[in-house]
Amino acid sequence: MTARLGMIGCGTMAGAYLAGLRELEPRLKITALCDIDPAKLDRASKSAPGAKLFTDYHAMFSECDAVVIALPHDLHRDAARDCMRAGLHVLLEKPMAITERQCLDLIRLQRETGRVLAVGYVLRHDPLWSKMGELITGGSFGEVFHVSIWTEQFTDLSRGAWVGDPRRVGGGQLLSHGCHYIDLMLLWLGRPVSGTHVGTNRGTPWMKMEGTSNVAIRFESGALGYHFGTWGARGTRLGYSVHAHTTEGMLDLDHAQGTITLHRDRSGGDLPALQAALAAGAKVDGPTRTVVYRRPVEGKHTNAEVSEFLDCIETGREPVANPRVSLQSLRVIWRLYDAEHHGVVADLRGLGLDQFTEKPIVGTAGQPDVDGA
Ligand SMILES: NC(=O)c1ccc[n+]([C@@H]2O[C@H](COP(=O)([O-])OP(=O)(O)OC[C@H]3O[C@@H](n4cnc5c(N)ncnc54)[C@H](O)[C@@H]3O)[C@@H](O)[C@H]2O)c1
Repeated sequence: MTARLGMIGCGTMAGAYLAGLRELEPRLKITALCDIDPAKLDRASKSAPGAKLFTDYHAMFSECDAVVIALPHDLHRDAARDCMRAGLHVLLEKPMAITERQCLDLIRLQRETGRVLAVGYVLRHDPLWSKMGELITGGSFGEVFHVSIWTEQFTDLSRGAWVGDPRRVGGGQLLSHGCHYIDLMLLWLGRPVSGTHVGTNRGTPWMKMEGTSNVAIRFESGALGYHFGTWGARGTRLGYSVHAHTTEGMLDLDHAQGTITLHRDRSGGDLPALQAALAAGAKVDGPTRTVVYRRPVEGKHTNAEVSEFLDCIETGREPVANPRVSLQSLRVIWRLYDAEHHGVVADLRGLGLDQFTEKPIVGTAGQPDVDGA
């Protein structure tokens, strides 16, 4: 079967998708592109020759079986809703929507329409980050007690003025980009118990809310998760990095290098998983460092994400980033924002990936006031 795929929103992220999607032919064919900006449409059409061009996505429904939605966040709910109602499967960029109520609308609509609704948590499809999750949850390199995730980027309004506006983004840097890492922490470390966020727009005055975030979360197991993200980095050494401290050493994910290195300064090479990795050809990179994993493919793993989306359409199975798990990470962020506003520690109980409820539970205080009463 060849799925006829439409792209709604042809900006920065659509460019990342379109760069690779033709490799997935004949499983899909890009039949329609939509953007309100004709210049963006023109540029996108170079990567999708033959696709019909639209400035109103409602007019393209008959050309598509499925769509990728890569719009400003305040448009996510209505666009995904209209597409599912028109019978289309939807791969919706993160975050799913900008309030809990909007996300719950989409969860209900997905169930009613029976369409596939996948959320674009692309790191869940990157083998490097998946391997890190496997090593953390599997415990073969020790029991994890602390995970730190750093992301140092420079993102200003050249991407679009909406990026700085909480009523269009749903929050600041943490909600917009940090949602990837809160999602991964919930996946890797389990049920959260409590946490704090402090953010600032110092250094990123174009952001009305925070352009720089610090999050600390305690999990039921006793493990701690920490996330530092900034959109103001004028220089970086860490880039995107993860350190997971375990009872046996430290696992060090380097996104740019595509490696996971085990650091062991205090004990020998007796760990069975390390011996197995060495026997399988793992590279020893200094007396206490072993590269235990190297990512086979470079770049954004949007094609793996779209492949999974197509699998779900073909088989009816649920995507890994289904709308319920996608809402849980946003709920954590809105509770963190709310607690920050009130100067207290956030209560994050009940927000694990396995604790989903369709009742609204986060209150409105941490969210933009866009839905009316
Ligand atoms: N997963 C990732 O790594 C990643 C990276 C960047 C962005 N994103 C996500 O992708 C989405 C889009 O972000 P972006 O950076 O590409 O933004 P962008 O501003 O570059 O692109 C958005 C596009 O939508 C168009 N648009 C606006 N209103 C429209 C409408 N009503 N109909 C059709 N087109 C319309 C704009 O003209 C623009 O071209 C967001 O959800 C963002 O969070 C994800």
